[in-house]
Amino acid sequence: MAGFRVELGSASHTVEIGAGLLDRVGELAAGQGLRGRCAIISDKNVARLFAERAARALKGGGLDPLIFEVEPGETSKSLHTLERIYDFLVEAKFDRAASIFALGGGVVGDLAGFAAATFLRGIALVQVPTTLLAQVDSALGGKTAINHPLGKNLIGAVYQPRLIVADVELLRGLPEREFREGIAEVIKYGAILDAPFIGELERNVEAILARDAKLLEQIVERCLRLKAYVVERDEHEAALRTILNFGHTVGHALENSAGYGRYLHGEAVAIGMVAATRLSCALSGLALESAQRLRNLIAAYGLPVTMPTGWCNDDFMQALGRDKKRSDDAIRFVLLTELGKTTSRMLTPDEILPYLAEL
Ligand SMILES: NC(=O)c1ccc[n+]([C@@H]2O[C@H](COP(=O)([O-])OP(=O)(O)OC[C@H]3O[C@@H](n4cnc5c(N)ncnc54)[C@H](O)[C@@H]3O)[C@@H](O)[C@H]2O)c1
Ligand SMILES: [Zn+2]
Repeated sequence: MAGFRVELGSASHTVEIGAGLLDRVGELAAGQGLRGRCAIISDKNVARLFAERAARALKGGGLDPLIFEVEPGETSKSLHTLERIYDFLVEAKFDRAASIFALGGGVVGDLAGFAAATFLRGIALVQVPTTLLAQVDSALGGKTAINHPLGKNLIGAVYQPRLIVADVELLRGLPEREFREGIAEVIKYGAILDAPFIGELERNVEAILARDAKLLEQIVERCLRLKAYVVERDEHEAALRTILNFGHTVGHALENSAGYGRYLHGEAVAIGMVAATRLSCALSGLALESAQRLRNLIAAYGLPVTMPTGWCNDDFMQALGRDKKRSDDAIRFVLLTELGKTTSRMLTPDEILPYLAEL
């Protein structure tokens, strides 16, 4: 078991990582001063697997849990589902001393997190991430959001949890594709901040894909410490935090243009990282050998590394233009100067297209 503090002044909080921690979530929450009524918000898949265990653990810690289930999938990050959560909290007469436990992947984390941020102007939130993506990325950093019909994550808040509990054992039953997409975000941390980590991910491909609990604990801890380092220095994405968007500009454009359901987020980011390394070789001095290493690593985890046929369509171009990091016509691209080190450049879609065509 490992743990550390995210230092954010009055929003500082503890992160606990380890195998079997779900059964200790009550004790850990009580240790942070949480007591009384709480809601476990989860999606139906995750609730079926873990909600009863979570409820038992919370009762053991002296809390009084109710379970609220939403449909699995991105469509639950909606105003409609949020409204159902508010109805539930009001009808259950939750007051300011109550808390919300977000038990699930990034969808539940974002949705339940935004509910906690806004209900009664903010009640305590505990993130209990159950996907690799959520454990290494979305649970930490405080970004919460729902989608608007015209765009993802358009309505949200930065709201820090009181506690993050990442139980790597919960990843055992995660579908293979969802597990591998989380690895894309893991590789991202190595690429932008931690070159030695790249070496470890190269050496341990088989054991990691076999979901060795000890290794997963080390990986989740390393990623969360790296993300905490970034968030502590730039909670509101004024500057440093943008490096976390490495691979995401092209990634988002692919997600939005390749047809619904074609790519999971992490898969699109995998291609986006390959694209960003190609640009880095041309524009920021990344050695070809380093770009090749990163590409091989991404491929070794079974993630895609080439642009799909027909990628250069109107939707793709429009998605690049609509990127949230857009300012005027140029887009801020996160590039590498070497493995573990970043820089950024303002580039127009026209400047990057020739490089994408080479992938
Ligand atoms: N807030 C942030 O900083 C941040 C960062 C990255 C992504 N996100 C958001 O995260 C969301 C994606 O999250 P996700 O990839 O975790 O998807 P998800 O929450 O939809 O989970 C993926 C699927 O796995 C199932 N599942 C979850 N845990 C499981 C387990 N342990 N065993 C078996 N099945 C399990 C879920 O029911 C779901 O069907 C997106 O909405 C994205 O916008 C937020
Ligand atoms: Zn991502």
